[in-house]
This record gives sequence, structure tokens and C-alpha cells, in this order.
Amino acid sequence: MVSVNQERTPRKRTYLLCPPEHFAVEYAINPWMDTDEPVDVELAVKQWESLRETLSRLGHTVHVLPPRAGLPDMVFAANGAFVVDGTAYGARFKHEQRAAEAAGHRDFYESSGWRFVAPSEVNEGEGDFAYLPRAYGGLILAGYGFRTEPAAHAEAQEMLNHPVVSLRLVDPRFYHLDTALAVLDDERVTYFPGAFSAAAQKVLAQLFPDAVLADEVDAFAFGLNLVSDGRHVVLNAEASGMAAKVAAAGYVPVPVDLSELKKGGGSVKCCVAELRH
Ligand code: ARG
Repeated sequence: MVSVNQERTPRKRTYLLCPPEHFAVEYAINPWMDTDEPVDVELAVKQWESLRETLSRLGHTVHVLPPRAGLPDMVFAANGAFVVDGTAYGARFKHEQRAAEAAGHRDFYESSGWRFVAPSEVNEGEGDFAYLPRAYGGLILAGYGFRTEPAAHAEAQEMLNHPVVSLRLVDPRFYHLDTALAVLDDERVTYFPGAFSAAAQKVLAQLFPDAVLADEVDAFAFGLNLVSDGRHVVLNAEASGMAAKVAAAGYVPVPVDLSELKKGGGSVKCCVAELRH
């Protein structure tokens, strides 16, 4: 059992973010996106700035990817690749509206000394992949059902040399793994069971008996779309129930308001790619 007084230790991280200068909801590829609802880009940029500042203030290195006009979802930088042990396994987007984002990410990795592996299979990077360095010797969790193809899970295992556990997502509102499950530290996760198939729920319960369980309200408030450094859990301000749950498990919740980006179907984690050396 997780003890409440347990001291959670942060670890310095390196992140990649992309400002929402060109953010818009011009098409709807997930149930959160409503093309009739206006978007306040200025507010989106302001909220994003506070996310960036929060991550820097916590002592992390934040790289910024130049946004590209005509790619309104590029702010969701998590989708551009999945990086483990210095290797970036590139993304290949399911929807053609986002396809060109992949090249922006690829340019970043290739020009800054990371090993980049181009994918053959459809996958949306850290949106559907998560990594736990100290669980089972280094474990990758991977979602499928809406975006990433199971064939990409096998490809990621080949490229990244860590076992990949495939988890089927069943609720269209939680279309990426990172809307339904988050890594809290090197070996712990939190997730909303209802977003997963019955078999995937069993697998998660077997692998992570001490997981922090979230409910539908938490998931709906994008409370699982969080970024943790092992101690500080940066999460959407709206997700107060989730903040209480991680606090009860000994972490320090750090709320940020990303209400504007929620109109695109994303929150904190969607905006942040972790670059792991
Ligand atoms: N509008 C974007 C899409 O549907 C949101 C991506 C959210 N990113 C994430 N990592 N869950 O593709």
C-alpha cells in the first residue's frame, strides 16, 4: 500500500512543447472538438505560457518546437514522437489533417542529436505510449483502438528494446492512452479503468496493484492528462478530484488552467513530450 507520508522524489526532465499560435478547431477528429465553438487563441497562448513557466519553475528543461501555420493541433506536442533511451520513434498520424506535424518533430530530433527512427506504422507518439523506467526493468504501455495501430506497438518494441504491453481503449472520449492513464513516477501509474477493455483492465490491475484509480469525472476533466516529475503532478485546474487523489498518494498537485486547449480535446500531457536520454 502507498503510505501517505511517503516522500515522493522529483527527477529533472527534458520536455518539448509547441506554442498554440496557430491553434484552432477547424475539423473534428475527436468528440471534444466542435467546429462551431469559437476558440480564443490569445487565451490559449496565455494558458500555454503558464504551463511552460510552471515546468521551468519546477526545474525542468523545456525546448520549444516552432509552430507551423496550417497545423492547428501542433500544440499537442506529445503526439509527435515517443522518446526512450535517447531514441525518438517518430509518429505517423492517423488523420491526414495532422500528418505534416510529424516532419516538424523529425526535424527537431535530427537537428538536436537524437537518434530518430522513422515509423512504418500508424502511431501518435506519446499520446498512445507511456514509459515506466523502473517497472519490470523498463516497461512501455501502449494504447490502441482509436489512433495508434497495434502493429506500431510491435514496431516500438523492436525499435526501443523494451517490452510493450498493448491496452485496448474502448471509450471514444478517451481516444489516446494519455487521456486515460498517466505515469506518476518511475514505477507507478494512475488510470481510469472504464476507458479500457475488460481484458486491459485485468492486465493493468495485475501489473499495477498499487495504482491510483481515477473515475469518470476525473477523466472527463482531463485529470489523467497529467505530467509528473515523480513528485509534482501538473494537471488541468478543472480536475480537482484528481488533484485530491494524487495528493492523498503523496504527490504535490500543481494545477494549470488549460480550458481553451480542451476544445481541441487535450490538456497538460497532450502539450508535453518527454525527451528521455
Ligand atoms: N485535436 C487533437 C487530436 O484529436 C488532440 C490531441 C490530443 N493529444 C493527446 N496526446 N491526447 O488529435
